[in-house]
Amino acid sequence: MASFDIDTYLARSGAVDLWAVDWAGVPKHPLPPGAIRTLRYMQDIESHTIVYLRSLLATRAIDDPDVATFLACWVHEETFHGLALERFLAAAGHPMGPRPKPHGHENFAQWFEARSTALLSRLWPDFCAVHMTWGAINELTALTGYRRLAARAGHPVLTALLEHIQRDEARHFFFYYRQAELRLQRPAAARVSRFLVDRFWGPVGTGVQSLDELRFMASYLFGDEEGRAAARKVDETIRKLPGFDSVRLLDAWLDRFHDGGRNGDRND
Ligand SMILES: [Fe+2]
Ligand SMILES: [Fe+2]
Repeated sequence: MASFDIDTYLARSGAVDLWAVDWAGVPKHPLPPGAIRTLRYMQDIESHTIVYLRSLLATRAIDDPDVATFLACWVHEETFHGLALERFLAAAGHPMGPRPKPHGHENFAQWFEARSTALLSRLWPDFCAVHMTWGAINELTALTGYRRLAARAGHPVLTALLEHIQRDEARHFFFYYRQAELRLQRPAAARVSRFLVDRFWGPVGTGVQSLDELRFMASYLFGDEEGRAAARKVDETIRKLPGFDSVRLLDAWLDRFHDGGRNGDRND
């Protein structure tokens, strides 16, 4: 299998151009309340990337030069997703308003998760395999979520903005996925990664956002037939990774939510 070409990635990397967006056109089109609520959720997640980076820097993630270079671009692009969504919401007349400082969000569970991740990374040389797999799942979920949001909101300026964001998420996904493919070739790495994903994976925002927001977003984006099919496609793609052929992710998580169970959020 060919190794990943970081130069190809870098050549196409670039932040959303905030000056090219038709902000004045935003209030000219209706924006459904469900889209506003979902955008607020997503904006919060995007602007948290820098906090996730703090945890990642305490791991082996930056030992590999390609991964380190990627992460620098990744955090830059995700930060601009947060800024663009914040600006969009303000232009639509629904500003995010004051929020606690990022570190104020860190509750005990998150603190513990960050420390456990750092410890796991120190003890386990193949840590990058699970990090890359985790990243691939989350980027593909984000990409799918944005595609669904654009379809549901039907707002032309938002659609154009989300197209750029989706291109970034697709590039992020591709990097993580290729890296995961390579690193999961080792059966032991695949076995441990699979165990960790089965045991701990939940959509981004789990443990940060309230269960109500998570549930609303899940039903808004993935509640109808088309949404469910998109969620299933995420799982199908991840199943192609070595050792993940029977994994159940987004689809199973939606099942747990829709059953009305309180177990949709394992970190709750
Ligand atoms: Fe993003
Ligand atoms: Fe991303």
